[in-house]
Amino acid sequence: MKKNRSRLPFAIRKSSISNRVFRWYSRSARVLPWRGERNPYRILISEVMLQQTQVSRVLQKYPQFLKRFPDFASLARAKTSSVIRAWKGIGYNNRAVRLQQLARILYAEHGGRLPRTVEELQLLPGIGKYTAHALACLAFNQHLPVVDTNIKRVLGRLFPPLAKRMDIWELAEMALPRRHAHLWNQALMDLGATICTSLSPRCEACPVVKLCPSAFQIQKRNVPSTRREPSHDGLPNRIYRGRIVDVLRNSPRRSFVPATRLGNQIKDSYSIQDEAWLLRLMKSLEKDGLIVMRHTKAGVAASLPQ
Ligand code: ADE
Repeated sequence: MKKNRSRLPFAIRKSSISNRVFRWYSRSARVLPWRGERNPYRILISEVMLQQTQVSRVLQKYPQFLKRFPDFASLARAKTSSVIRAWKGIGYNNRAVRLQQLARILYAEHGGRLPRTVEELQLLPGIGKYTAHALACLAFNQHLPVVDTNIKRVLGRLFPPLAKRMDIWELAEMALPRRHAHLWNQALMDLGATICTSLSPRCEACPVVKLCPSAFQIQKRNVPSTRREPSHDGLPNRIYRGRIVDVLRNSPRRSFVPATRLGNQIKDSYSIQDEAWLLRLMKSLEKDGLIVMRHTKAGVAASLPQ
């Protein structure tokens, strides 16, 4: 008869799970340059990059960015245009501007260092609940849960009844072993990224398969993304925004590029019909601090901020 794996007393199940996960992690942890890192600045840069960029891409860009901006001081002092240029290839350029704002706020208000509490961290630009917890745990060794999409999926599969009725952060807090939260959180990230994947989990290779009520239950699916986002002629505005910043990155420093030239460079068959849309995109980039605009008789032009 099939054992009901979720009927074991929670405390026993939890400690068997964590022992197995720790043993697995000690053998199978991914080798990543920010693992074992103690410097809060370098941990912050990795976490902000990893918010929205794949590990393989971050692996390429992380060392280059750190070489160019090795600490909060160099980031705070730099021209914003240089920070945006160095963010090339990482995507979601807003993050570059917010990181610099953060560095400047640290010097204005926190003596040039990151504050340590989740509450204070979350007040900084670009730092949400996930990043604040990741920093408090990984950089400042606090015994705290971290929830990203991988961890959420792993916990949801390991504790399905609890996941249905509890807030995921509360569940992550309950599931936290007594010690070594920093190892636990990173182990769950690796488990989610390499074994307990969204569409094709490899239950046969999982260290907690015997304790998981969802083992071998996940249908292997190929679900197209249903994320809806503002688009124009079939492409998300996000892509066009990235292209505008790319054109400006590739233009001479301090030069202003006219809107029509931008339009032609970011969209095939750009026409007068697209003008109002392009201006809206440019205004949104200006509001985010990614570009500056100049209005002349000949029309609108844009540049990276100095
Ligand atoms: N994704 C977000 N943070 C991560 C980390 N510290 N290690 C691996 N993947 C991550």
